[in-house]
Amino acid sequence: MKSGNSVLSSYGTTIFEVMSRLASQHGAINLGQGFPEGLESERLLGSVSQLMTDGPQQYAPMMGVQELRRAVATHSHRFYGLDIDPETEVMVTSGGTEALADCLFGLIEPGDEVVLIEPLYDSYLPILRRAGAVPRLVRLSPPEWTLPKEELAAAFGPKTKLMILNSPMNPNGKVFTESELAFIADLLVKHDAYCVCDEVYEHQVYDGLRHIPLMTLPGMRDRCLKVGSAGKTFSVTGWKVGHVIAAPHLLQPVAKAHQFITFSTHPGLQIAVAEGLRWDDEYFIGLTRGLQSRRDRLGNGLSAIGFDVLPCAGSYFISADFRALAKRKGFVGDDTEFCRLITMEAGVAAVPVSAFYEDGGVRDYVRFCFAKTEEILDVAVRRLSEYFS
Ligand SMILES: Cc1ncc(COP(=O)(O)O)c(C=O)c1O
Repeated sequence: MKSGNSVLSSYGTTIFEVMSRLASQHGAINLGQGFPEGLESERLLGSVSQLMTDGPQQYAPMMGVQELRRAVATHSHRFYGLDIDPETEVMVTSGGTEALADCLFGLIEPGDEVVLIEPLYDSYLPILRRAGAVPRLVRLSPPEWTLPKEELAAAFGPKTKLMILNSPMNPNGKVFTESELAFIADLLVKHDAYCVCDEVYEHQVYDGLRHIPLMTLPGMRDRCLKVGSAGKTFSVTGWKVGHVIAAPHLLQPVAKAHQFITFSTHPGLQIAVAEGLRWDDEYFIGLTRGLQSRRDRLGNGLSAIGFDVLPCAGSYFISADFRALAKRKGFVGDDTEFCRLITMEAGVAAVPVSAFYEDGGVRDYVRFCFAKTEEILDVAVRRLSEYFS
């Protein structure tokens, strides 16, 4: 029998799926996969259940329902001062992941180079390779996750078509500073490259910090494709409603990929998301505040147990060095084995940070998702505490 595509077939099942399955087999609390629990808005759920009954039920327009495209443009102006034309510069997708894939399939020519920063979200590499691009990886390392500017500059060259930048960043919670963004912007201009900006955690930025879209920097408006996800903004990851914002000359080829992959997204979900984006600041402030307090609750609990918890400025995740605890238990193994151990023995699942690197590399850190109810976080901390005491 002939085989399937060799690029995609070379990747195994994602670590999120593997750990989630293991968690459910062992009745473990799943702090591995990044889905929120207990943060969904009753108001939004009420709207959507009404829309599911009343309709519409048929294909939505390819670029998204007008209400949502307008709401995305208004949201971008309200939070970032961006002037976006909802008719020509916004496209609704089935989640941030589809938006990213559309950008890559829509822009890449075989042989193009793409600059990426590790640790990275798992869909980037398989998709860009399937599109024929050659990745140029630049590594951030714990515990500082400092941007190695010289290495980044060296990764750019005449074949660079684009860069993918994820800020706030999964899995390490890094939020890129204005000066780091300015450095990146200079490289993009110098090499005439684009940037796919994965900003799905734009409303998960803590401690009074501000999310700065790269698109708002001088010269970046026409070079950036800004990706967002209602799954993260409204704690409904199962809805898979995302969007891309980009200048028309960039959005047009990206829309071709969308046209041939999903074409459109459930209209009722889109209308509900549009309603959410119009909510006043209270909602967005409350979301951030609630997650920040959960971050602190879990972080303090893990520190008290003996994890060396790293700072987290954004996203749903904190990462922690487990070496001191491993030593206490006489455990010798890497981060993947440690995650299996705590899932099966302590009843709490996490994911290994090495899974976010192409060649593993970093092996002493695990990632925990704190976007859970306080009760779940407390039980997880209690279970880990009992196990390691
Ligand atoms: C960095 C990053 N980008 C994109 C996504 C995908 O977003 P969506 O669930 O809307 O497809 C995720 C989801 O976890 C993510 O962590």
